[in-house]
Amino acid sequence: MNGQIIFSDDEIFLKKLVNEDFLTSLISSDDKTLQSKFIERADDKRREFFSNRIYIRGLIEFSNYCKNDCFYCGIRKSSKIARYRLTKDEIMETCSEAYSAGIRTFVLQSGEDLFFSKEKIVDLVSSLKNEFPGSALTLSIGEKPKDEYKAYKIAGADRFLLRHETINKEHYEKLHPISMSFENRLRSLKDLKDLGFQVGSGFMVGSPWQTARNLAEDLRFLRLIQPHMVGIGPFIPQKLSPFKDFPPGSADLTVFLIALIRLLIPDALIPSTTALETMNRREEGIKAGANVIMINISPDKARGKYIIYDGKPRSVLSVSDELEKIDGKLAKAGFSMSLDIGDSPRVL
Ligand code: 5AD
Repeated sequence: MNGQIIFSDDEIFLKKLVNEDFLTSLISSDDKTLQSKFIERADDKRREFFSNRIYIRGLIEFSNYCKNDCFYCGIRKSSKIARYRLTKDEIMETCSEAYSAGIRTFVLQSGEDLFFSKEKIVDLVSSLKNEFPGSALTLSIGEKPKDEYKAYKIAGADRFLLRHETINKEHYEKLHPISMSFENRLRSLKDLKDLGFQVGSGFMVGSPWQTARNLAEDLRFLRLIQPHMVGIGPFIPQKLSPFKDFPPGSADLTVFLIALIRLLIPDALIPSTTALETMNRREEGIKAGANVIMINISPDKARGKYIIYDGKPRSVLSVSDELEKIDGKLAKAGFSMSLDIGDSPRVL
């Protein structure tokens, strides 16, 4: 990359940006000047679509049981860790506190825990939607058959997060055991989209064996499927996982990729993720085009046990104190914290 890229009008710019070779060379380059030009443009793009608002989501990690054995993940089935499940009452109570503090999106996340049957999730979703009017519910509970996704949608779930992890099948197979299938992951994403969920996808940056071309393919895939939400974060080795000795992904590259994603899918909701926060870079993610912050509202029973990677930050603040802190930080950086439901502009 020689810094000669012309920042012309949007259409020509985008045409260039979706080219895989161009993206690959951009991602391989560590030309900081060039990167900051993209970051500035992404910042403008976010403002064009969302002004200076940053949306807040409340994340509840309700079970760390998982039937899968992904090589990178600390809560994989083979990991000998303390397991927990929140009861329905505990989940309702957690959401109630957060709702009083103003939170209007609840993200229910768990490992693929078969204890939470279709019926249990449906009951949870409808209870939450009834109890907390005007809130949005996001599920992040993995791959399920289409009829289950459909039941969740009918029960009132609005959004679903399922990272594709990598769009290169060979790479996918290096990150996952043979019992998991690339095709089923893609099938799940397609079903979710067809059922009318606001869908989030994404990937880890710097996962073992990932190449710049893989990342370019991931970006092109995202541009193709146009998810409403895109979550990316650096790979962080977890000491109990088979990938414990691999180096962590780059926070700089993650920030740059956030900017590229903002440019490729300008109306996407993009969190500056906890994995980036682990490296103390959450604010940079925001400045590079992210517009969502997820705060962990899981109760004490769950804290410290949802160790998908090491060093995950653990706030000891109450939800309202945490919000006050974030509000202050964002205001200082010229942003405004929004507790609005924050739907994708595409569904308004
Ligand atoms: N480092 C960073 N992110 C991870 N995830 C799982 N394990 C790790 C890790 N070691 C991400 C995956 C998954 C999401 C919930 O967390 O992308 O989809």
